[in-house]
Amino acid sequence: MNPDRKQPRNMLMTKRLNHYFGERQVLFNISLEIQEGTRHAIIGPNGAGKTTLFNTITGKYRPKNGSILFKGKDVTGFKPDKLVRMGLGRSFQINSTFAGLTTFQNLRMAVLARKNIRFNFFRNLDKMQPVTDETDTLLARIGLAAERNLPAGLLSYGKHRCLELSLAMATDPDLVMLDEPAAGMSRIETHQMVKLIRELTHNKTVLIIEHDMDVVFSLADRITVLHHGEILATGTPEEIKANQDVKDAYLGETKVGNAA
Ligand SMILES: Nc1ncnc2c1ncn2[C@@H]1O[C@H](COP(=O)(O)OP(=O)(O)OP(=O)(O)O)[C@@H](O)[C@H]1O
Ligand SMILES: [Mg+2]
Repeated sequence: MNPDRKQPRNMLMTKRLNHYFGERQVLFNISLEIQEGTRHAIIGPNGAGKTTLFNTITGKYRPKNGSILFKGKDVTGFKPDKLVRMGLGRSFQINSTFAGLTTFQNLRMAVLARKNIRFNFFRNLDKMQPVTDETDTLLARIGLAAERNLPAGLLSYGKHRCLELSLAMATDPDLVMLDEPAAGMSRIETHQMVKLIRELTHNKTVLIIEHDMDVVFSLADRITVLHHGEILATGTPEEIKANQDVKDAYLGETKVGNAA
């Protein structure tokens, strides 16, 4: 195989994934292909199985059958921490920050983790300068420089979620999975979040679950619609908007704004 080949490849593939909670089947033959360098959105009504699909891909649940390929390798049944080490950035979870540490300290931990340097109080602080600089650069980039020394627990909801996204991205994952990053945000906060996602995930592969159709249609290269645990359609935003099955099942009830 030629390592220099420029052909796009699949970052993630799922093949006929099925998942059950007890007797109840919630995912039916989910086959996805997520191409490297694309942003792919998963949409669908409440209870469609979107988060369950994420939990299956990230190793929290083991699918009853079907397989998952990450960077061409069969990772079905792999544990979450192993997948994280392989470059699968998990969707950020509430409370992934340390509330008592400052914004700067939270971010510095992620920068240190990427560099594989264990924080050591006896380390010559001069050697920490490049880490400090990198953390400050990142802080400025994500628009949290003014909150540098504020405990993360005191950040506004929107800024806290921006910090969480930045923590997820600071480890430089190949694939980042975001479960409703703009949930509960005001329009302004949502706008800032979209801008941040765009910036931090430039050239990355992103799988994003989102209910806000403005966010979906402004970010996604491709969209998969999940309905009652099944894939209803996959396509470009234009194809999805024009798909009659999707309109009937989902978009008909959802207001699609003036996203471009
Ligand atoms: N741990 C669980 N045990 C049993 N049933 C579950 C569990 N988690 C989810 N379910 C059920 O599985 C179905 C899919 O849920 P899931 O959370 O994946 O939906 P979703 O598409 O993420 O919905 P939402 O948009 O509301 O977040 C739902 O009917 C839900 O009630
Ligand atoms: Mg969900």
